[in-house]
Amino acid sequence: MMPAPLLPSDPSDLARAVARLREAMHVLVLTGAGISAESGVPTFRGPEGLWRDFRPEDLATAEAFERDPRLVWEWYDWRRQSVAEARPNAAHVALVRLENRVPEMLVVTQNVDGLHGAAGTRRVVELHGSLWRLRCVDCRQEQDDRRAPLPELPPRCACGGLLRPGVVWFGEALPQQALFESFTAAQRAEVVIVVGTSSVVYPSAALPQAAKSVGAFVIEINPEATNLTPIADVSLRGTAAGLVPALVEGAA
Ligand code: OAD
Repeated sequence: MMPAPLLPSDPSDLARAVARLREAMHVLVLTGAGISAESGVPTFRGPEGLWRDFRPEDLATAEAFERDPRLVWEWYDWRRQSVAEARPNAAHVALVRLENRVPEMLVVTQNVDGLHGAAGTRRVVELHGSLWRLRCVDCRQEQDDRRAPLPELPPRCACGGLLRPGVVWFGEALPQQALFESFTAAQRAEVVIVVGTSSVVYPSAALPQAAKSVGAFVIEINPEATNLTPIADVSLRGTAAGLVPALVEGAA
């Protein structure tokens, strides 16, 4: 589906979104790369996105890793180093305040940067894994390692096997438990807030639709129209660090 044409948001949209959020007992927040853009972490698509300069099939597939683990690791280690310097922005922080106020809230993120956790959000599902997690391709043991740069590329497990980034690559299934938790939250949510995602990657992009089909009110925050826009109840046009705090403070 083509993205809808860019339309400015109606000034009453923020007020409508605030009113629905204020009443909500169950909230699902879905985030994508755009929420971390103002922390200095690049997005994937668009003129400055990572997929302009790099091809996913060279760097983000199991086949690429099998072919050249060092090349893949160099790219991930570079991303780990740049994310290590990034700090949560006002949008991540506002979501912590919202979590403290709403009886049941879940943040589902497609991001692998760990910035929701760094901001202090307690319930986060990392649907696409984490840059900070490493997994052995032989014994499957996972470990957390926040050193950036890593001392050895490609890194090795204590068992001698190769360690791979603990992220989901193209062609791989998403973690079952993470998916189950996310779609359960979608079934329960009265309000879904979707921040900074182009909504082109499934199954993440199906979450707001699943929630809406059982009555949720869907709020989109994004400077641009996306594939989600046609089904969103309100589309707020602007950046995450500007609009998420405005929405959360308004509903407080
Ligand atoms: P994209 O790069 O596809 O989309 C980023 C979205 O953020 C776009 O819709 C932008 O308009 C929006 N955006 C940019 N700056 C923003 C800002 N300051 N505030 C709010 N929004 C802003 O990133 P994702 O949708 O997260 O998967 O991409 C989904 C998945 O595709 C990623 O998790 C990754 C990628 O390939 C894997 O690597 C498996």
